[in-house]
Amino acid sequence: MKKTSAIIFSLIFLFTSIHAYQKEIVSVIPKPVKMEISNGVFKFSNQTKIWINEPSDELQKLGDLIASSVNQSTGLKLFATAKMTRNIPRSLVLLQLKKDFQSKEAYTLDINQNKITISAGSGAGIFYAVQSLLQLMPVNPDKYNFSVPCLLIEDSPRFQWRGIHLDVCRHFFPVEFIKKYIDVLATYKMNTFHWHLTEDQGWRIEIKKYPKLTEIGAWRKEADGKKYGGFYTQDQVRDIVQYAKDRYINVVPEIEMPGHSLAALASYPELSCTGGPFEVGNLWGVIEDVYCAGNDKVFDFLQDVLTEVLNLFPSEYIHIGGDEVPKDRWKVCPKCQARIKSEGLKDEAELQSYFIQRIEKYLNLKDRKIIGWDEILEGGLAPNAAVMSWRGVEGGIAAAKANHNVVMSPGTHCYFDHYQGLNGEPKAIGGYTNLEKVYSYEPVPDALTGNEAKYIMGAQANVWTEYIETTNHVEYMLLPRMLALSEVVWSPKESRDYNDFSKRIEKHYDILSKKNYNFRVPAPIEESGEFLLTGKKSIELKKPIKNSIVRYTLDGSEPIEKSKAYIKPFKISKASLLKAKTFLKNDRTSVTASLTISIIDTTTNGLNYNYYEGDWTGLPNFESLTPTKSGKIYKISLKEIKPREDHFGISLYGFIKIEKDGEYTFYLNSDDGSKLYLNNSILIDNDGLHGSKEASAKTILKAGKYPIKILYFEGNGDQSLKLEYESLGISMRIIPANLFFNK
Ligand code: ACM
Ligand code: ZN
Repeated sequence: MKKTSAIIFSLIFLFTSIHAYQKEIVSVIPKPVKMEISNGVFKFSNQTKIWINEPSDELQKLGDLIASSVNQSTGLKLFATAKMTRNIPRSLVLLQLKKDFQSKEAYTLDINQNKITISAGSGAGIFYAVQSLLQLMPVNPDKYNFSVPCLLIEDSPRFQWRGIHLDVCRHFFPVEFIKKYIDVLATYKMNTFHWHLTEDQGWRIEIKKYPKLTEIGAWRKEADGKKYGGFYTQDQVRDIVQYAKDRYINVVPEIEMPGHSLAALASYPELSCTGGPFEVGNLWGVIEDVYCAGNDKVFDFLQDVLTEVLNLFPSEYIHIGGDEVPKDRWKVCPKCQARIKSEGLKDEAELQSYFIQRIEKYLNLKDRKIIGWDEILEGGLAPNAAVMSWRGVEGGIAAAKANHNVVMSPGTHCYFDHYQGLNGEPKAIGGYTNLEKVYSYEPVPDALTGNEAKYIMGAQANVWTEYIETTNHVEYMLLPRMLALSEVVWSPKESRDYNDFSKRIEKHYDILSKKNYNFRVPAPIEESGEFLLTGKKSIELKKPIKNSIVRYTLDGSEPIEKSKAYIKPFKISKASLLKAKTFLKNDRTSVTASLTISIIDTTTNGLNYNYYEGDWTGLPNFESLTPTKSGKIYKISLKEIKPREDHFGISLYGFIKIEKDGEYTFYLNSDDGSKLYLNNSILIDNDGLHGSKEASAKTILKAGKYPIKILYFEGNGDQSLKLEYESLGISMRIIPANLFFNK
């Protein structure tokens, strides 16, 4: 090879390798406002100095943070110091506070081959620049090859309230975990931790003046008789608040009132309308017993509690709950009724408003503001209150139009207790809010004018823990959905692009894995269901992550490292249970998703259906109604019928073939109501307006064909219908379509 061509060759090589490097490594989340990538890299070495441009404890800590992060991943020992010499070191990381930033969270990060310059108007901005820098570093570096790409980032957040909530009442999580939770919030530039500390099922914060709140209120007796609970001491709370502050996160405590307060009432029953006695709740839901709004002692108690809370939390906003307050007790309580009279209130809704306003007055006197769930709009909003919109966006719109601050947290996009996939997921409260749906969320509703939109402070995801018992599971529900939300609340609206995000997120699966977080790995099949074959047909699976392998089995066994890898669509010619799973390079895997593959005869198989439209609160008598359309479906799936969004009903009827004698358990899951009839009598009643809810029943059956009928209706919100069964030798599964007959 001649010399010139060797040079050209190596230039091409260099160019392509930089190109590849840029493609793979520059994956900052949330996406910066502006990022310009240039050629070359900054290499960390023993010679690298970290300088801060003025002596300050805060800057020193931020410089130390870079030094310790580099040290942890490479072993390189770097030190942050105030500017030491006139001569600029050959390899320098400079942290500087400057006056010319408009937002206190804005920063620039300028990386060239000899120098990284981090500039911001405050410590928060510097901290966010450091988070971006850490994300640019290789996940598995070595001491001799530890570099970040040359680039310029200019960045600032779109919203001031970038929140994540955690319910520590339904299930309790230890201090160490709360810190780990805060760490991952900080990595993705979230700045608000909403700590849900009191509930029907547990009071979790020490209050010195009322020791019974934690002696009694922090502990519940589970259905199996076991004692469950725990609480945070004031010292622990102070420690967590400081820990969060060091990571530029404000902790907003939530002290629920007037509802969701059974744990407090169990401790001090005199604060209720009836006087009790009560036990700390051990069932989820909404409970009738709430604080008595007619008793001044209740307000003395809450003010005392809040006084201690204010001493622990410097937060401008204090969350006072306000959601789901049944008015049953107030309606028949002489004290509450006397209050309605003496205050000239119209009804119990106004009594709730009176309650919240009285608390607001107290907190405003102490220079704090209240924020509450959108029910605090009922009966009139307290004059200075902010609203957290959770039952959709209407509450947020109404509050913003009335010039009140708003945090958007609608159940449709921001409830991280919902399912992330529909196949093989651990049990969740219901709903279906996958990564893409979270990413698609727009916090400013179209209904607001430009001026009203200014009241939208930001958005927040809520992690309610009725069905989340372990820290591992909390992480699973939070991650990676929080990464999508971080982009919703930080990045410019116009720059959001789910495809691009999907590419950038791959590196974060490695980052999260390295940091020992549990997270959901996308599964090869996201929808639950059944695949019908009428001849030889190909099965196509999704490879959800570029850097992954999908493995599958067809014999009902769990896919393992040695199972067949999916390369391309494959043909299948007999009924099977397909199980598939995504394997990442970092040892993480998805849940096992399964697909029932059935072979059907299109003349005899299938169930007849009638589809009706109407608005009901329970199953109507379909036989007295005229269907809008009728037909035949082969699998029990609403999609097959293409119903409208809300207000419809379906009856399905035909026969089911039972292949073997035995005891069968049927599971009927629906949102809203449903019923299952087998052999002309009712087997499962799952009727009523409700979210995704399962009901089951056992029955002994001989092999043979039985008449079957399924009734279903949808009021509003989500829609779903699923029928599964299990028996000896048949693991729980969707009943295969080849067992349904229309005649
Ligand atoms: C709520 O989810 N009850 C605010
Ligand atoms: Zn009362």
